[in-house]
Amino acid sequence: MILLDGKIASAETRKLLAEKVSVLKTKGHPTPHLAAVLIGNNGASETYVASKIKNCAEVGFQSTLIRFTDDVEETELLEKIKELNEEANVDGILVQLPLSKHIDEEKVIHAITPAKDVDGFHPVNIGNLVQGSPTFIPATPYGIILLLQHYNINVKGQHAVVIGRSNIVGRPMSILLSSNQPYGNATVTICHSHTHNLKELCLQGDIIVAALGKPGFVTADMVKDGAIVIDVGITRVEDVTAKKGFRIKGDVNFEEVAPKTSYITPVPGGVGLMTIAALLSNTLRAYMLRHNLNEDIFTT
Ligand code: GUN
Repeated sequence: MILLDGKIASAETRKLLAEKVSVLKTKGHPTPHLAAVLIGNNGASETYVASKIKNCAEVGFQSTLIRFTDDVEETELLEKIKELNEEANVDGILVQLPLSKHIDEEKVIHAITPAKDVDGFHPVNIGNLVQGSPTFIPATPYGIILLLQHYNINVKGQHAVVIGRSNIVGRPMSILLSSNQPYGNATVTICHSHTHNLKELCLQGDIIVAALGKPGFVTADMVKDGAIVIDVGITRVEDVTAKKGFRIKGDVNFEEVAPKTSYITPVPGGVGLMTIAALLSNTLRAYMLRHNLNEDIFTT
């Protein structure tokens, strides 16, 4: 069993980005800038956004955190997004999900201009993804692809079973794995809460991507020998022995599943770190497109 180490792979991506930012600055170009919008004070969202901001600083990006209280009016939020869309100095916009119940998530996602939609959630960007056109790939599936790339794992022709069909992870992941692109060309089965024979389907998977948000859901009896297991789960589970009072648990029962696998991601230290690296990559991509720059600038 080989551990797919998100710490190592994400550090490589960040190093590359930092080198590129350094070249841009040396050549007198403005600094890439990510604006993050956080509503309320959901503990997990606070942690993720703080980590995104910290990682921006690490690679030399500018970042701005815009906070609203839980009771913010939808119109006020949409007005802020409009402002950020028009702000010449902002390259990428992300609104951390989930949102308060009274805010229409779809309206918010649609309000972000596709050129700054570094989460890749806007229908224009999802449409491009489906058609195999260049786009902003949602950060978690993109991070998983970067991880496969780092470990040179070719999934071509293999059977990938994706558990979960969210717009953020499962659905875009299934599209990427089945697309005719490097680190794609897999045969994909997508499972969800209504799937009848989930265990039998999982047992057929050369690759399993667990993205359903149920801690320890994937057990050893669901995984065939030698499978590649990608765990997207990051649920906070109460643990009085932990300093913060909780532990982060994945969707896979790591202890019993890991010995059966050829490759497996740990939680924490796996996909979560890759998600942030992918978001930063998308932000640089948005910047390059907005400033009409291409990769030549880094080699000449
Ligand atoms: N909440 C959970 N994952 C994500 C993500 O990738 N982007 C945003 N904006 N919110 C999230």
